[in-house]
Amino acid sequence: MERKPLIVANWKMYLSAKESILVAQSFVKMLRDEPVDIIISPSYPLLSAMKEICEGTSVEVAAQDIHFLESGAYTGDVSVGEVKDFVRHVIVGHSERRKYHGDTDEIVALKTKLALKNGIHPIVCVGESFEEHESGATIEIIREQVNRVLVDLSLLDFPRITFAYEPVWAISAGPGLEAKQPEAQEVAEIINLIRKIISGAGGNKYMDKMRVLYGGSVTAKTVKTFVSEPGVDGALVGGASTKPAELVAIIREVALLV
Ligand code: PGA
Repeated sequence: MERKPLIVANWKMYLSAKESILVAQSFVKMLRDEPVDIIISPSYPLLSAMKEICEGTSVEVAAQDIHFLESGAYTGDVSVGEVKDFVRHVIVGHSERRKYHGDTDEIVALKTKLALKNGIHPIVCVGESFEEHESGATIEIIREQVNRVLVDLSLLDFPRITFAYEPVWAISAGPGLEAKQPEAQEVAEIINLIRKIISGAGGNKYMDKMRVLYGGSVTAKTVKTFVSEPGVDGALVGGASTKPAELVAIIREVALLV
């Protein structure tokens, strides 16, 4: 693989506080010296505990989102300043934030910029809906979403961003709710397109440095299919990442490809 692979575990709102701590503790215990970068992303109240659990391990922590403004009268929201002592990364533009919280491409771009300004690495999710996919609009949607993020940034910021291609229709809606899966080759084509868009915005130098992940119902059984495609640098894993043994199995599958 050209770049060091990355696995991001997005725990969404699946676990209680107690469960999150138990999962994290048992997960870090199982890790050896893995040739894979690993990030776990619990809910906000767990960030401080995760930072402690991951200290001295190779695992880093991400917030699942941030508000697009530094501060203000936004009850229930969380600012970058409130998370930045605990995390090195933040997920922005996840389809569940776009769908349930009205995050537009514009807002995702603002969040990306704010994260970078605060020294946090954004993991920017992009992806088309099922209808967009069926109507053949995928390329256009991805182009819009990626370009909107890059257009406002300095080239120096490019290598600090990770993109995750997550077709909305491939993301599981919860345990036991299986989603459709794209063909691995289809994923590789879109990830290649994302690289071309990056190159169009900033040149090849940046394109080669930035990691682009796949996300959508990834498990230990399926991860290899996607990550063995050229240009796919790892995975953003939701449901399957909440079980420590499964998460370790995903990481080991990817490690075999290094
Ligand atoms: P999933 O979630 O692996 O449960 O489909 C992926 C994601 O939403 O990031």
